[in-house]
Amino acid sequence: MAAAAAAKIVEVRETTRVERIGAHSHIRGLGLDDSLEARHVSQGMVGQVSARRAVGIVLHMIRDGRIAGRAVLLAGQPGTGKTAIATALAAALGQDTPFTSMAGSEIYSLEMSKTEAITQAIRKSIGVRIKEESEIIEGEVVEVQIERPASGVGTKVGKLILKTTDMETVYDLGGKMIESLLKEKVQSGDVITIDKATGKITRLGRSFARARDYDATGQQTRFVQCPEGELQKRKEVVHTVTLHEIDVINSRTHGFLALFSGDTGEIKPEVREQINGKVAEWREEGKAEIIPGVLFIDEVHMLDIECFSFLNRALENEMSPIVIMATNRGVTKIRGTNYKSPHGIPLDLLDRTIIVPTQPYDEKELREILSIRCEEEDCQMSDNALTVLTRICKETSLRYGMQLIMTSSLIARKRKAHEVDVEDIKRAYQLFFDEGRSVQFLREYQQEFMFNEMDDKEEMEIENN
Ligand SMILES: Nc1ncnc2c1ncn2[C@@H]1O[C@H](COP(=O)(O)OP(=O)(O)OP(=O)(O)O)[C@@H](O)[C@H]1O
Ligand SMILES: [Mg+2]
Repeated sequence: MAAAAAAKIVEVRETTRVERIGAHSHIRGLGLDDSLEARHVSQGMVGQVSARRAVGIVLHMIRDGRIAGRAVLLAGQPGTGKTAIATALAAALGQDTPFTSMAGSEIYSLEMSKTEAITQAIRKSIGVRIKEESEIIEGEVVEVQIERPASGVGTKVGKLILKTTDMETVYDLGGKMIESLLKEKVQSGDVITIDKATGKITRLGRSFARARDYDATGQQTRFVQCPEGELQKRKEVVHTVTLHEIDVINSRTHGFLALFSGDTGEIKPEVREQINGKVAEWREEGKAEIIPGVLFIDEVHMLDIECFSFLNRALENEMSPIVIMATNRGVTKIRGTNYKSPHGIPLDLLDRTIIVPTQPYDEKELREILSIRCEEEDCQMSDNALTVLTRICKETSLRYGMQLIMTSSLIARKRKAHEVDVEDIKRAYQLFFDEGRSVQFLREYQQEFMFNEMDDKEEMEIENN
């Protein structure tokens, strides 16, 4: 008996996480307090305090919603958390504010012109909040009666009795309504709403009065009060869509299905003009509101001069989103020209931009980030191992150190240890090269590689980097 019980317990597995672990999956927000000061470690973010604070101010600017067309540039060395901060901003903004993320190089691989790609990205980042008034019936279900014809074929007929605290009404049901009631598994004691225009039924939960019918309720059941007053109500429904979605739905060549495949192709300027006109009309009538979101362009130095000047112009539009860019380049050539400029961005765009610098991390911060990543990757690591790994990060790079977490954890698992120790880190460090050792290796064995053209000057350049 006891053995059988034990066997049963083994069968119950822990629920495992289904999301995949990405480079930034440990980041859940900017980690700011109410006065916008960055907490040293919070919501997965560590250090980089002044950049986070600056982006926090941008966050408020976006939430305020009145300012359009500002550009922010996150500039700093590789691995200093620029993409991480942008991810944090997206998380902090929440679902309702559009956030579009693209890499500068993306525009060259799309089947559309570069300016069209940027226009689409811009319009994806502007939300339109549309208010609609609809008539609904809201009440607690007293009874559902559905009569099937004895023969089994033919239309079903039925009655639905709904009540509020003040009244009770009987509704005759047609075939369609019966279908949706059955589909939603509506039963007496549920509180439901019926949209009069579409006939859509939504279950709000179970009435408190029925809270004792524990037989019929699952664990996730939500209990709500029985509604008061009239059964028929007017309700304001708010939808948020992006300008791009409206474009696609109204573009005759594609239709809304293109939204799912993402294959929207180019959209005619006339369509956009019409939609801008329509949206302006809705705004005047108070039916719609514009929500400027964020367009994040990572690796922005990959854009070329045409894109930059197009962006310049787009930023001046009243319906422009806040554009956040990130780059790790110093003074370099602007793509498509022979001119050099800071960050590879033309001066006229830089002039319109506020620049947020990111700084390299100190040892304490590196250790903190690594330990957050260990938790994210479900890896137990001894204190000594973490110290060694932090040293490695300091000498090589944060990204290389992060790669060693998973590899050394696999090595530890191989020797059936639950915790990664210094030995495992050492082993991983020997197996996988960082960039510095790889260059050294190339230098020693360059004769044996194909297409070897490293001359002294290039060697010097690599050394200087
Ligand atoms: N302050 C931080 N707190 C927590 N994690 C961080 C922080 N900064 C960086 N990271 C993590 O370190 C890794 C490298 O950072 P990130 O990709 O943001 O660098 P980057 O500045 O965008 O570099 P690049 O210029 O090469 O694109 C990421 O996995 C990121 O999530
Ligand atoms: Mg990045």
